Amino acid sequence: MIEIEDLEEYQLIRNAKDEMVHSMDDRSHMKKMLLHICSSGGKNIRPVMLVLCTEMCGGNSESSIKAALAIEFIHSASLIHDDVLDGGLMRRGVESAHKKYGIPAAILCGDFLISKAISLISGYGNNAVNEFGRAGMYMAEGETIDISSVSEEFRERNYFECISKKTGSLFAASAAIGAYVAGADEEIALKLRLFGEYVGNAYQIVDDLLEYLNKLEDKSSTYESVTLPLIYRRAMGHDAAVEKTLNQVLLCVQNAKAILSQFPSSNAKDKLEIVTDLITVDMLPDDIF
Ligand code: FPP
Ligand code: MG
Repeated sequence: MIEIEDLEEYQLIRNAKDEMVHSMDDRSHMKKMLLHICSSGGKNIRPVMLVLCTEMCGGNSESSIKAALAIEFIHSASLIHDDVLDGGLMRRGVESAHKKYGIPAAILCGDFLISKAISLISGYGNNAVNEFGRAGMYMAEGETIDISSVSEEFRERNYFECISKKTGSLFAASAAIGAYVAGADEEIALKLRLFGEYVGNAYQIVDDLLEYLNKLEDKSSTYESVTLPLIYRRAMGHDAAVEKTLNQVLLCVQNAKAILSQFPSSNAKDKLEIVTDLITVDMLPDDIF
């Protein structure tokens, strides 16, 4: 089975990211934290999606690389801050930034990454920059919904608003920015924005389902949010709650693919379909029930 790491778009991003961090002054306090964060790798899913959307819309990968890095850096910043907020101890198999370097340094590392991301995206047009800003605001808003999710009042509707904002929004911006970089018009970019949002939502529901099933080995948090399987579990048995959650994943994936099917055949489109499955349904264990 093909893995994300096998894609040339992944390698392109990985190399650009490593080059950017390694080129920093060795005396920089920030560099060692960034090296730690980069050492844990990550799948670079969002930037890969951005580059593939550029390619599917007729553009070339080189032109989208800075935008892709901007997305990856703001994503990394959000995870560093998220780990501070929910007491995350492990991230991608390594110690979280605040655990290793302390909360003040971790917050500043996030600030650095957000600023670097802004400078990288600023070289693109208004549409791309607006998508980027919109996603950042939604992510912070989604996270505020998340941290207040402990109450019994937190229902399915609240959950979907939360994940669309905290996770779907950056996938959505990645896909839309990818289209804009290729010179696509607003109609195409908005279609791809919706595609990205469905993929991001499916990804988050899968992540929450894996956490509910205790299947996440490469990360751990002190505080856990109220997630979809937990909401369903209030009204039904374990298996039924898992099945209902799974159906929501399948629905998002189906909706995402229905949008992709409107685009002409291309190598990049095939890869986007593969990536959609790889980060959603393919993540689910065979022994789910
Ligand atoms: C992970 O959720 C967290 C997010 C998807 C978003 C976090 C966003 C912020 C902290 C706002 C910061 C905003 C900007 C613009 C930097 P999770 O805790 O469910 O997933 P996890 O299991 O991977 O921790
Ligand atoms: Mg977290």
